[in-house]
Amino acid sequence: MTDKDLSSKSAFMEWIDKRYPWTEFWKKHLSEYYAPRNFNFWYFFGSFSLLVFVMQIVTGIWLVMEYTPTADGSFASVQHIMREVRYGWLLRFMHTTGASAFFTVVYLHMYRGLIYGSYRKPRELVWLIGMVIYFCLLVEAFTGYVLPWGQMSYWGAAVITSFASAIPYMGDLILTWLRGGFSVTGVSLHRFFSLHVIAIPLLLAVFVFVHLVALHHVGSNNPDGIDIKEKKDKNGVPLDGIPFHPYYTVKDLVGVVVFLFVFCIVVFFTPKFGGLFLEPDNFIPANPMVTPPEISPVWYMTPFYAMLRAIPNKLLGLMTMAAGIAIMFVLPWLDRSKVRSIRYKGTYSKIAIVVFVICFIGLGYLGHEGVSPLRTIMARVFTLGYFGFFLLMPFYSSREKTKPLPERVTG
Ligand code: HEM
Repeated sequence: MTDKDLSSKSAFMEWIDKRYPWTEFWKKHLSEYYAPRNFNFWYFFGSFSLLVFVMQIVTGIWLVMEYTPTADGSFASVQHIMREVRYGWLLRFMHTTGASAFFTVVYLHMYRGLIYGSYRKPRELVWLIGMVIYFCLLVEAFTGYVLPWGQMSYWGAAVITSFASAIPYMGDLILTWLRGGFSVTGVSLHRFFSLHVIAIPLLLAVFVFVHLVALHHVGSNNPDGIDIKEKKDKNGVPLDGIPFHPYYTVKDLVGVVVFLFVFCIVVFFTPKFGGLFLEPDNFIPANPMVTPPEISPVWYMTPFYAMLRAIPNKLLGLMTMAAGIAIMFVLPWLDRSKVRSIRYKGTYSKIAIVVFVICFIGLGYLGHEGVSPLRTIMARVFTLGYFGFFLLMPFYSSREKTKPLPERVTG
């Protein structure tokens, strides 16, 4: 590049900056956003979530070009995409694998928040907006699963919408309103399509933006859970902070390569993932006259489904399932520990986290399997363990002995 080129480039940027705060934005959010220098493996999952979100939007746009959102045409249009559209199979498998990848990375992202106390003051809003994103993701995944109009799409939609009928007094009215009729039909399919391709993705895009604005306003937490803003040099730069760009952009890029490698292995070699990502019953066209032997949601919803089934009363089961999600919203106000990170918390918190993980995975497994008396008892025990983790937190987190915090970040 000659000097003339360089000066014309800066003149161009000057022109832009006078009309749009590009350089200011770049500095504030990238080159002068000081992130703690001790980010570890767990800090990859925010960027991965962002990547998968973009991938779902892009593959989704192409799928919609060939998809027909009607009860008569939907199943056949998916077959058309798989067999006749050039690389249609790739787009579809990227999208279906993307759905499971999204939940995998988001669950790991949430778990990171949980162990390092990233939900604590001053990041309560980052967590709350994250929870709104999570809820939108559940709706997005459910509405998407209905679209191929296979047996599981149909019966999954029938079961999930039927939850509304448990609501006292207004239940049946809400159910008819949700389905757009007295049963699940093409009308229901069409409204789920509208939610899946427009309403929820738009909400997600807005909330992801707000999530990041909130995070950059307060600054990132780190594995030690201590505030890097307390120790600054004479220029006001945190001593333990490094510019997000280029340090973490390059680090994240390395992670992205590894992530895409694993993602491609699944897409190319095992897109159904043993029936976990694409259930066998969904390769059969929807038939309102034949109920599949076992109706269960996709793996990422099964922990909550297991809670629902663990309770014999429909309304109470529904309330327990809703409470299972709702309780995560209030997490920032349940933790009374003097420290944020699990590294410095006491034994009770460590045991509680282990119990929580066992219960969550256990519920996920049970929600995927058929019911039996033993499984119902196990689901009840795990449900108690799950709620115990949250409801007892104010007590065990404030009473335990914590380790002293380091002056500066470690590692
Ligand atoms: C589409 C989904 C999501 C995207 C794209 C996303 C993106 C991000 C990114 C890029 C970061 C900064 C990098 C990092 O710390 O890993 C971040 C931080 C964070 N996110 Fe998310 N996120 C999503 C969902 C969630 C959910 C569901 C929650 C929790 C309920 C959540 C809670 C947090 C918290 C607490 C932080 C701050 C972490 C810290 O500073 O230690 N996010 N998110």
